[in-house]
Amino acid sequence: EADLESKLPLKGKKILITAGPTYEAIDPVRFIGNHSSGKMGFDIAKSAANLGASVILVTGPTHLTVNHSLINVVKVTSAQEMYDACHQYFNAVDVAIAAAAVADYRPKNIAEQKIKKNTDNFVIELEKTKDILLSLGEAKKQQFLIGFALETENEIENAKAKIQKKNLDLIVLNSLQDEGAGFQKMTNKVTFIDKDFKIEPMELKSKEAVADDILNKVIAHFYE
Ligand code: CTP
Ligand code: CA
Repeated sequence: EADLESKLPLKGKKILITAGPTYEAIDPVRFIGNHSSGKMGFDIAKSAANLGASVILVTGPTHLTVNHSLINVVKVTSAQEMYDACHQYFNAVDVAIAAAAVADYRPKNIAEQKIKKNTDNFVIELEKTKDILLSLGEAKKQQFLIGFALETENEIENAKAKIQKKNLDLIVLNSLQDEGAGFQKMTNKVTFIDKDFKIEPMELKSKEAVADDILNKVIAHFYE
């Protein structure tokens, strides 16, 4: 068994990480998106690579860049593209971490031409996107699967339900309760809940430090 004294405890491990928002097209010039910066997923990718893992970072649109020999960045735009990219790599990885803020709905029809402002009211019909993490949970074999949960009510109960529904090994519950935490922020207040429903609240800390905590859970999975 490799020793934890080694600075590269995840050497040889392959990790798939999703990050950022997805953009769902309305017409050639417009989309539905969200305020995810991608920072949490990018920080997880950097932590993992710094521990020796080889990382596939599937990211929606963000201004972030990363330059690390162990990180392979795969850029996507829509939830469907993110789904396809994830399934292209999932079979070959040891760990998958879904940190992306994937759109839950997309326009049912994408207008071929820019929509003109002809009417006073305008309705866009939406349909559900595929749940990428749910589909990874269904396809799961040896992989250690980590998801996030963003809740504003019944946090713990809702997060536990997501663990079961999506066949996760660990969920990172994001608390928006705290003013310093969340989207477009530098910090996060998270609670870890594992598949046995062991609950571990963490302090408010930088996203880099949250990323390190998550990778410590991954290391524990391989060495404990
Ligand atoms: N997720 C995903 N694909 C989607 C939606 C969500 O992979 N189409 C992943 C997210 O990356 C996250 C987890 O599922 O790791 C939970 O996302 P969240 O938005 O909290 O939950 P949902 O399952 O989308 O349910 P709801 O938004 O209704 O709470
Ligand atoms: Ca959602």
